[in-house]
Amino acid sequence: MVEREGLPEEGKIWFNGEFVAWKEARVHVLSHGLHYGSGVFEGIRCYATPKGSFIFRLQEHLERLYRSAELYKMKIPYSREVLTAAVKETVRLNRLDACYIRPIAFYGYHHLGVNPAGCPVDCAVAAWRWGSYLGEEALENGIKCTFSAWRRIDPNTLPVTAKATGHYLNSLLAVQDAEERGADEAILLDNKGFVAEGPGENIFAVKGATPTPTLYTPEAESSILPGITRASVIELARDLGYEVVEKPVTKEELLSADEVFFTGTAAEVSPIREIDSVKIGNGKRGRVTAKIQKKFFEVVNAREEKYLRWLEPVSAGGERGE
Ligand SMILES: Cc1ncc(COP(=O)(O)O)c(C=O)c1O
Repeated sequence: MVEREGLPEEGKIWFNGEFVAWKEARVHVLSHGLHYGSGVFEGIRCYATPKGSFIFRLQEHLERLYRSAELYKMKIPYSREVLTAAVKETVRLNRLDACYIRPIAFYGYHHLGVNPAGCPVDCAVAAWRWGSYLGEEALENGIKCTFSAWRRIDPNTLPVTAKATGHYLNSLLAVQDAEERGADEAILLDNKGFVAEGPGENIFAVKGATPTPTLYTPEAESSILPGITRASVIELARDLGYEVVEKPVTKEELLSADEVFFTGTAAEVSPIREIDSVKIGNGKRGRVTAKIQKKFFEVVNAREEKYLRWLEPVSAGGERGE
């Protein structure tokens, strides 16, 4: 069993418009969201850079939060301006510089009919320190993956582009299964057998060196959560001169790729060195992955003038949270 670090117990959480002590941010056991997975959320990173603390693509994350809610006909009772301020204030108040931020909106306590009409929409924002999701070593040497026996949820069953709490039962099964099989992470196929994504990551394959390496990734309209890191990496890769093709990717294409990597807020850019005992490329972080990773970390560390627009300062002057 992998030992997992627990959440912190101190600090403040923004809960329905006010800050409450970490341990007081509680919900009723008969909350709708707890019973039916009727919530939407985001995972956002804040980076400590020499120029101050910056939240990576905060507005895109909030846009996705509202879009996820809309797909479930949920009305978040706070404006984007209020949530933007809540996110920044949560980071500042907890005196965090680099951290992970989790906004969530869910149907709360009123009745337990499946139709949530009439239930309040509760909303919270928490932030805490969280290092590399798959480990520092994984960023350098890559991880071992397995194709999950569980298929990624299908767009005909659920609106897969929503980042909804209930959808993560699919991810939960995949990660449990991967750990039992000794892999670091799972790769899920879609219902048709094409590669979809990881339980919390999008996936890219790199192929060929002539004339330039090409990156392949499943289309945003397929059975994936269209990641904000994915969109960022597509732009950065094109900037580096690589061709990026969004298309259905087969299992075989992935296994015979020269390089494969995951992208995600938590996973950032993580090389995959092995899938079900098949070595990918030379079994190490590939050259193209390394270049994209380097560029990504330069961008999030405010070292790329062109991409400063992706970074939102926690405090007005861009200084660290106080
Ligand atoms: C299922 C799933 N796919 C992909 C991603 C990557 O998305 P992002 O880059 O926006 O974090 C995530 C994480 O949010 C996810 O949970």
